[in-house]
Amino acid sequence: MTAPDKPAYLEDFTPSRGVRPPRARFTTDAPSVDLTGTWRFRLHPRAEEATDGFEEHGYDEAAGGGGPAWCDLPVPSHWQMHGHGAPAYTNVVYPFPVEPPYVPDENPTGDYRCGFDLPQEWPEGPAVLRFEGVDSCFRVWLNGTELGFATGSRLASEFDVGPLLRPGRNTLAVRVHQWSAASYLEDQDMWWLSGIFRDVTLIARPEDGVADLAVHAAYDPETGTGTLRVDVDGAAGAVVSVPELGLEEAEAGAEHRVGAVEPWSAEVPRLYELEVRTPGERVRTRVGFRTVELTGGTIRVNGRPLLLRGVNRHEWHPDHGRAVPLETMREDVLLMKRHNVNAVRTSHYPPHPDFLDLCDELGLWVIDECDLETHGFEPLGWEGNPSDDPRWEEAYLDRIRRTVARDRNHPSIIMWSLGNEAGTGRNLASMAAWVRENDPSRLVHYERDWDCPYVDVYSRMYAPHAEVERIGEGTEAPTDDPDADAHRRGLPFILCEYGHAMGTGPGGLEEYQRLFERYDRLQGGFIWEWIDHGVRREEADGTEWFAYGGDFGEPLHDGNFVADGLLLPDRTPGPGLAAYAKTIEPVRVVPDPAGGAVTVTNTWDFRDTSGLEFRWWVTEDCQSGPPALVPGVGTLDVPVLAPGETAEVPLPALPEKQGGGESWLTVSVTLAKDEPWAEAGHELAWGQARIGAASAVAPVPAAVAPADTGGTVLRIGPGEIDTRTGDLLAIGGVRVGPLAVDLWRAPTDNDVARHGVSVERGWRAAGLHRLTSRLVSLDWEGNEFVVRTRVAAAAQGFGMRVAYRWGAAEGRLLLTVEGEAEGQWPGPLPRFGVHMTLPETLDRVTWFGGGPGEAYRDIAQAARVGHYSDTVDGLQTPYLRPQENGNRVDARWLELCGADGGGVRVEGAPVFDFAARRWDTAALDAAAHTHELEPEGKVHLYLDAEHQGIGTASCGPETLPQHRLEAGNHVLRVAFTPVG
Ligand code: GAL
Repeated sequence: MTAPDKPAYLEDFTPSRGVRPPRARFTTDAPSVDLTGTWRFRLHPRAEEATDGFEEHGYDEAAGGGGPAWCDLPVPSHWQMHGHGAPAYTNVVYPFPVEPPYVPDENPTGDYRCGFDLPQEWPEGPAVLRFEGVDSCFRVWLNGTELGFATGSRLASEFDVGPLLRPGRNTLAVRVHQWSAASYLEDQDMWWLSGIFRDVTLIARPEDGVADLAVHAAYDPETGTGTLRVDVDGAAGAVVSVPELGLEEAEAGAEHRVGAVEPWSAEVPRLYELEVRTPGERVRTRVGFRTVELTGGTIRVNGRPLLLRGVNRHEWHPDHGRAVPLETMREDVLLMKRHNVNAVRTSHYPPHPDFLDLCDELGLWVIDECDLETHGFEPLGWEGNPSDDPRWEEAYLDRIRRTVARDRNHPSIIMWSLGNEAGTGRNLASMAAWVRENDPSRLVHYERDWDCPYVDVYSRMYAPHAEVERIGEGTEAPTDDPDADAHRRGLPFILCEYGHAMGTGPGGLEEYQRLFERYDRLQGGFIWEWIDHGVRREEADGTEWFAYGGDFGEPLHDGNFVADGLLLPDRTPGPGLAAYAKTIEPVRVVPDPAGGAVTVTNTWDFRDTSGLEFRWWVTEDCQSGPPALVPGVGTLDVPVLAPGETAEVPLPALPEKQGGGESWLTVSVTLAKDEPWAEAGHELAWGQARIGAASAVAPVPAAVAPADTGGTVLRIGPGEIDTRTGDLLAIGGVRVGPLAVDLWRAPTDNDVARHGVSVERGWRAAGLHRLTSRLVSLDWEGNEFVVRTRVAAAAQGFGMRVAYRWGAAEGRLLLTVEGEAEGQWPGPLPRFGVHMTLPETLDRVTWFGGGPGEAYRDIAQAARVGHYSDTVDGLQTPYLRPQENGNRVDARWLELCGADGGGVRVEGAPVFDFAARRWDTAALDAAAHTHELEPEGKVHLYLDAEHQGIGTASCGPETLPQHRLEAGNHVLRVAFTPVG
């Protein structure tokens, strides 16, 4: 029983009362009124049944019941994003006691009022009020008459209002509760945010109009023709036209052969305008002809198997939460297309319908997921999970019906997903059965169902590479039920989540992609996830930063686990997105200058390579500041390749090398013409190869006469070394901080791996973050001045013997650093390199090597060899929780200079990685947010021989064995020279 004055509907299994059957969204010539805008709002701390009459037309705010004050609030929005209450983040756990269907008395409840004028020409008769999304439970009145209540935050609800509308001014009142029984079904890993966060519209519904509309548009790849059936619910005598196909006023509900059509695919998203006419209404929608099937154990569209190169997209905007503006949705789709992404899983709820229109129009395969997750029951051993409790069946069915009814006319949707992480149970089986009955034209997806009795696709998240390979081969371990096991083995496989993009990373994507390409059964995957859900904040001085879980004082939260996207919250693409774009490039080009050819493969599933341009050029490193030479450029004559086809294309005679520097051939694949999602010249893919032999080996130290020493300072080439400590003091005129072996890095989220195998725990326990050094000896050994130390942590027996071999040759200060691990090291090393400091004025960075962006050994796909410049500030990636970042790989040389051009040059023998920051690793490690990092008045330079790969253990497998950096013997070889 519900306590007095608590609305009973709050704690009811029934999903709604008074709502109309769900239907599709379509464009109509019937009048409508957009009710979005500024509404009046007040927030109560608790939910009550009674009102002070705020729903009445003549309500006087000032005279109101003396409750909380009224103010303005935009609709759509979340009240927490406008200073009423605060966002709260939990991943798995419910932020309230688990006793379904009950919710806490502390239940923030917003009252909304909106006055609107009915247009003069508004027709008599039926009309509906449509809410596209209200989080989480709301009750509605029009002009004082209660219409009902609804739940299902990311699902549309409509109420009949025709007879209640009055000429002139009308008053809409809505009461929204943060918590309701339905909250148990909406435990997605995201911020808890409430309110009317999607559009509200009043729509006239002509009596003899279109009540609902289901488009069935199939394509037969054998004949190249399409069939069309449009089921129209509503007035009799509806007719259908697709003028472009010569279909005029054809009978609704009948199947029409429309002859030759261009099919719809994510790669070529061809849409046709369709009109449905009834005596009282004209309705428009767009149609794409495509057929989704499961044949021979593979997902096929229009007869061809797909390879999904996807991302999981939550709706997010750093200022608006899930009330995402249309232009931001478009930006998302454009960014996806421009980064070669071809699929999106709408994790974990149906998105704003405009987003699906964009997917239809610009071309993305969509898994449309129902608004359902009960993950918070997992920590309770799934006891009481609504998924298997008959009392919740109607709520489950209501959610899938509303998902399918709203979205079924989108050609981009190829699978319905029942929800996410809701365990297993009869209600999920009922949902699947309902889908099969009502839309057999698409596949059913649900990840938690590993036995797969009610799905069409074997879907998993974060499975390690080795397991994915076994699944690809069909050699995965059998499960208990032989029938289920046999059934599952016949299904295609996708990773609905993998490559957890939290902080630095994700590593290991390339290795997954090669598996997807190798085995037909593996049909790709979806990176977790598209964007960091950071909330934008500003310090008094205007410094911007992004908040995550715990920053709003939540008693229970999951910290920065909400920041695990390929985009930073302001939609700046992170390095992971560049790496992913390269990994999934639709054309693969592998130049072989020695063989005089380039191998080109079309990895698209539907598109041929016409409309692409293949340009090549050669650059030669000229060993200093100005850009590398470009002695030759041209276009390759690549035959048009069908999907999957490969060709060897001869290379023209390449230009002669000009000097002694390395030369590189780059082949770049660009759009020859504008596409709706990118302009001509946009690069889709590239390949590179070195021309000629590897660069010269490192200079050999020349004899340095001990006579060069004077006092406590030893001069070796341009270097000055303290003869008592072995510290490097200066390079040419530049004073430098001591150079010392450094094995520590500020742990990345993937090192910390709160939900996986953490390397960080072992590192800290062993004291790798507080290593100290003991000078063992320093003396001449032949032509080198050798400083020997032992690096180790307090309380530990293991350590590393280090030798710094200083020499000089050709005006350079040469350094070889050798490290030899001794004793039992606790696990992999974070890195092997050196740290030194330089004056803060040396903040202009130029290098020849991998770039332009951040890269690590297992996420270096996008790094191409070239000549780059940046600033120290520009090298940083501002991950929400500061951590190791900004590394550049395979530098041949690097210069750090000041405004006057003077500075220090580092050369590798042959290459090194580097990072440069205005703070040291300890500060980076200690900071919880970007704005806490304070420049220290110097440049910290890190030169690395090697580092531990990044992996994706923040949620997923550990760093692959080939990317582990074992303790052992390591060498770094560099040379320093002053510049200017
Ligand atoms: C999955 C879940 C996602 C997200 C991810 C980790 O288990 O489906 O919603 O929580 O893990 O970021």
